[in-house]
Amino acid sequence: MARISISDFLDRKIKGQKLALMTAYDYAFGRIVDEAGFEGILVGDSLSMVVQGLENTLPVTMDEMIYHTRIVSRAVTNALVIGDMPYMSYQVSVEEAVRNAGRFIKEGGAQAVKTEGGREILPQIRAMIAAEIPVMAHIGLTPQAIYRIGGFKVQGKTNEARVRLLEDALMLEDAGVFSMVIEAVPSGLAKEITEKLSIPTIGIGAGVHCDGQILVLHDVIGLFERFMPRFAKRYANLKEDALKALCTYRDEVKGGVFPSEKESFK
Ligand code: KIV
Repeated sequence: MARISISDFLDRKIKGQKLALMTAYDYAFGRIVDEAGFEGILVGDSLSMVVQGLENTLPVTMDEMIYHTRIVSRAVTNALVIGDMPYMSYQVSVEEAVRNAGRFIKEGGAQAVKTEGGREILPQIRAMIAAEIPVMAHIGLTPQAIYRIGGFKVQGKTNEARVRLLEDALMLEDAGVFSMVIEAVPSGLAKEITEKLSIPTIGIGAGVHCDGQILVLHDVIGLFERFMPRFAKRYANLKEDALKALCTYRDEVKGGVFPSEKESFK
């Protein structure tokens, strides 16, 4: 089976077929998520919180993102792998943005990158695309702007904010992004944006009308405990299963049950 490409993303929208995306951060889960049949796997900067245990997504570095992207890419053969550009890897200058985006492709093995923001980063986005790097945009609640926004809050609720988001979406499409994550906005606004764009929108906390959906892997499988966004849904509780397995192993070691003859050499 040929790897999913950015034109497959567009094709899904034209045919009215929903896109399913998921995050992944390592080889083992890269394999599982790919086998599950998602069209896109985002190596999200959310790894700062769910893998590194940090407060928000701001501290994760380019080198750390490249390391995780490389090990996910090694595992994935079907899905489009998207590297998430971390805070301060594309905001400072067009040149830095292109160089860092290029590292995701050359060193990380990704097929695309994601940036957060609208009109303020159009020059960077145009330059990355000119350098043959497909870009996924991300608008609405952009966690790299958490200090300006004042927390993980729903965006686009006033008419002014709604108009600004709509304008940003159209400008980003015009700049050439191949798809757009819309995070934590009212579903009516996500619907309006989705209908106005010819590229697919990928919702997270943006309602049912987006062309696709993405969630953070650790929320979906029950591996992140600190908080659960209202828009996320847990489909398994791997923390509980892992804890049970580890406690059983510990008890067997202490009780002399493990290793048995079966796990020993003659
Ligand atoms: O970092 C991330 O995982 C993301 C998704 C939640 C869209 O940006």
